[in-house]
Amino acid sequence: MIQSASEQTLRKAKTLLEKGELIAIPTETVYGLAANALNENAVIKIFKVKNRPFFDPLIVHIRNKSEVKKYASEFPAKAKRLAEKFWPGPLSIVVPKSKIILDIVTAGLDSVALRMPNHPVTLRLLKMLPFPLAAPSANPFGYVSPTSAQHVEKQLGKKIPLIIDGGKCPVGVESTVISFTEKIPVILRHGGISVEEIKKVIGKVSVETKSIRQLTDSPGMLKSHYATRKPLYIGKIDSLIKKFGDKKFGTLSFYKSFHHPNLVRSEILSPEKNIDEAARNLFSAMRRLDEPRCYRGRSEAEIILAETFSDKGLGRAINDRLKRASVH
Ligand code: TXA
Ligand code: MG
Repeated sequence: MIQSASEQTLRKAKTLLEKGELIAIPTETVYGLAANALNENAVIKIFKVKNRPFFDPLIVHIRNKSEVKKYASEFPAKAKRLAEKFWPGPLSIVVPKSKIILDIVTAGLDSVALRMPNHPVTLRLLKMLPFPLAAPSANPFGYVSPTSAQHVEKQLGKKIPLIIDGGKCPVGVESTVISFTEKIPVILRHGGISVEEIKKVIGKVSVETKSIRQLTDSPGMLKSHYATRKPLYIGKIDSLIKKFGDKKFGTLSFYKSFHHPNLVRSEILSPEKNIDEAARNLFSAMRRLDEPRCYRGRSEAEIILAETFSDKGLGRAINDRLKRASVH
């Protein structure tokens, strides 16, 4: 059930979480499917509801920076600088875990991903709780992440007792994941904080979002992820139309519009060419293009043609999601 984020709703959320139930929470990136991170049975439910493999570790959401000492056994100086600069915010920091962190949360790894989210409702809730929240994105494993309470309701509404409505997620792509388990910090997932911004604070980082390593270290980076049910192709839309334009298609573009007799739905992410707005609108647009219903009386799109963004700033996170959603 979707409920607006009143004090009463937050009290109900607290009671449910204390009983080991799951609830959906808004964050600035995407909605999360949250459980008491210190309750093993509650965390198991997350994997069941999402149909998520147990080898994919969860992010632990904390209410303030000083909580790090409880859940990390080490917090290197550079990690601290990032937390000072970007928390609360869309950055998950992977560090050696403390003993209280359950193996089920980290999929048996010795490290834990910590994040202080930047959403007033969830921060308020976290401050009411004596435990942190383990929360992956609130979507079935492998599908596009939810950026509104309605997205969650559609797919998980029947499986969880409460979805707190905190409005549309202002960032719209997941947090950046950076690991401090080796000498040089490694970015494992592109997300809401860009590589450029991170480098400004800590200098050299390596980026390993694609290697085989990720299949075990950060399975959220599996090649096929964030996927629509309809085939999605990524590239220059004009060329894609030449190749696939014999089918009914939808387009997903930054700001350009296209014309073609088989174009049945067009999603423009930011007419003003604003990359933040584009990221914010990405997942909703992907979901609309993926819907089976007719659009303006015309039959549905069979395929989705998506534009490649320029590989800088948030454009990298957008490209990453589109590539993983695409036929490859
Ligand atoms: O923005 C977000 O990060 C959202 C909101 C709800 O906070 N959460 C999210 O969670 O996207 P999820 O589970 O969909 O993605 C978590 C990512 C996965 O790629 C996972 O493999 C990686 O973080 N991860 C978690 N713990 C890790 C660890 N100890 N080492 C390496 N990667 C880890
Ligand atoms: Mg996810």
